[in-house]
Amino acid sequence: MFGENENKLKNKKRIAVFASGFGSNLQALIDSGSDYLNGEIVLVFSNNKDAYALKRARRHGIKAVFVDPEKFDSRNQFDQKITKLLEKEKIDLIVLAGYMLLLSKEFVAEFRNRILNIHPALLPSFKGTHAIEDAYEYGVKVTGVTVHFVDENMDSGPIILQEAVYVDQKDSLEKLEEKIHQVEHRIYPLAVKYFCEERLKIEGRKVKII
Ligand code: GRF
Repeated sequence: MFGENENKLKNKKRIAVFASGFGSNLQALIDSGSDYLNGEIVLVFSNNKDAYALKRARRHGIKAVFVDPEKFDSRNQFDQKITKLLEKEKIDLIVLAGYMLLLSKEFVAEFRNRILNIHPALLPSFKGTHAIEDAYEYGVKVTGVTVHFVDENMDSGPIILQEAVYVDQKDSLEKLEEKIHQVEHRIYPLAVKYFCEERLKIEGRKVKII
């Protein structure tokens, strides 16, 4: 007899997380559990062999793969290698979590609308790799977190979720970072869950949660 749980399990999405560094967002996704996500993290990929994210994955029995981009003659060859890996694991969703390599246009096209990213600012403000510091130095009173689909341009795809974080005048940069990360660790699993439950409908630049 197949119960409801069995069915749910069968429908679970297969997730690959791409991470280059510390992997606290990866950890938040792991900790939220596959039942919450309606998805299973089956692969963690990194372009950095020392990424702590790889250690986190192995500790949880998740396949962790490092591929050195330097070992390939072209970006195309590197992409092909990764694509094969993803196909082998029958990946439905790619979750970028502190992945520091820009994806090629071809790669994005191959996995269109199946790649998510998290950005530590309220896009379209403060794009780029130093978003928290840039917002802090600019003196904004409100910044935040954005989860979005990835398109061909940096930090520019349709927005799934955003949450504001207020900057208190006594906040140090470190304090602001901590506040931002706390929000990230809550809303990234939620966005992944929405994707895995097929509740995200993209209409042009707008994403409806149904
Ligand atoms: C996060 O702040 C995320 O928004 C940005 O990179 C950072 C990754 O942190 N894209 P971690 O590796 O998940 O701890």
